Amino acid sequence: MRGRISVPGDKSISHRALMLGAMAEGETVILGMAPGEDVRSTQECLQKIGVNIQKQNRATRVRGRGSADLKETESVLDAGNSGTTMRLLAGILATQNFITTVTGDVSLRRRPMQRIIEPLTQMGAKITAQENGCAPLAIHGGKLRGIHYKLPVASAQVKSCVLFAGLGATGETMIEEPIPTRDHSERMLLRMGARLAVSSNQLSVNSDRLSVNNKKISIRAGRLEGCEIDVPGDFSSAAFFIAAALLLPQSELIIENVGVNPTRTAFLDVAREMGAEVEIINWRNESYEPAADLIVRHQTLQGIQIFGNRIPLFIDEIPILAVMAAQAEGETHIREARELRVKESDRITALVRNLRAMGARVEELPDGFVITGPTKLRGAEIDSFGDHRIAMAFAIAGLLADSPTTIDGADCADISFPGFFELLKKKCIS
Ligand code: S3P
Repeated sequence: MRGRISVPGDKSISHRALMLGAMAEGETVILGMAPGEDVRSTQECLQKIGVNIQKQNRATRVRGRGSADLKETESVLDAGNSGTTMRLLAGILATQNFITTVTGDVSLRRRPMQRIIEPLTQMGAKITAQENGCAPLAIHGGKLRGIHYKLPVASAQVKSCVLFAGLGATGETMIEEPIPTRDHSERMLLRMGARLAVSSNQLSVNSDRLSVNNKKISIRAGRLEGCEIDVPGDFSSAAFFIAAALLLPQSELIIENVGVNPTRTAFLDVAREMGAEVEIINWRNESYEPAADLIVRHQTLQGIQIFGNRIPLFIDEIPILAVMAAQAEGETHIREARELRVKESDRITALVRNLRAMGARVEELPDGFVITGPTKLRGAEIDSFGDHRIAMAFAIAGLLADSPTTIDGADCADISFPGFFELLKKKCIS
């Protein structure tokens, strides 16, 4: 794999830019917004509740309506496959003085929503869901009150949902985050002038544990100011190409303009601990969402053990890490990663089944897996489970196999990375 590439805009930042842009006064201009289906779901939901969003070349213009001025709709909002759309939007809808119904596709209607229903209900919203706590959700919003909430699951989506609800609550909303998760919401809210404060205690790292004392984020109702947001490339999308370049002999790949917010790049630290050398050059925009170019070359990798506080910081990269582990020397242990079971698919089951089909040695654990490498993979019939990250991870595995691999439902890659297969084809030299 050789040459230079860039990857689509960051999905997490794009969702937030659309939603907070909608809640702000004035216009928000988003440059390089993520092109995938998930972000389109957010855009279409917001348009249904009265937000004017127009695309002109690289720029997406959101005409803000201010925090209390969204429009009631008779239609059901469809979040598609996107957990971020449903959970973050629920925080905003909880502040609006009307009832909205939000649903999603089969996968999203199986994912846990009690984690947002609980704090939003404490704040005064009325939410009904299916008996098992899953969507469709009917959200009856209104005047909320601030709460102090300790996150029971390490989830940036839950954190952001409560922060967004806090924008329309009386008094202070304080969130305690015992394990760190991505901080795009905090950065963007501060950038737009929110009354937000973060206090965080020291981090300490040793070879296999990252210990973090609680981070507390407090927010008060207030006015947001529209702004220009230049969205860097999505690190989670870049991770598939980082892995491909590490694993394929004679590779040297430059990935330009990738978001390197430190709450997103734990996968690089993990890869380095496995023996990879990835150069980061041309840092830019360090004050807001930093971006840089990455240079990746082929390297042999060693197994690694990861658990605890480190897991949430690279949860979306675990599918591709599993493929790397099958090629690494020795055992790789991923534990305390039960959240993988409630992503777009049960990613533990999906990884174990598909890696085994390719001949890898994998042991399934309730909260993770153990992979023993290296194994020469054989081509196989892969089930994407309708999960974009599984489809893309096994496309990279397929490049390493000794015979062709077929991925069933591979077009779900469009959820986050339209053009993934075309780019892969262009950059692979056979
Ligand atoms: C996301 C947070 C993560 C991640 C998801 C995007 C976000 O989910 O897996 O792809 O944009 O906030 P959780 O916060 O539920 O772990």
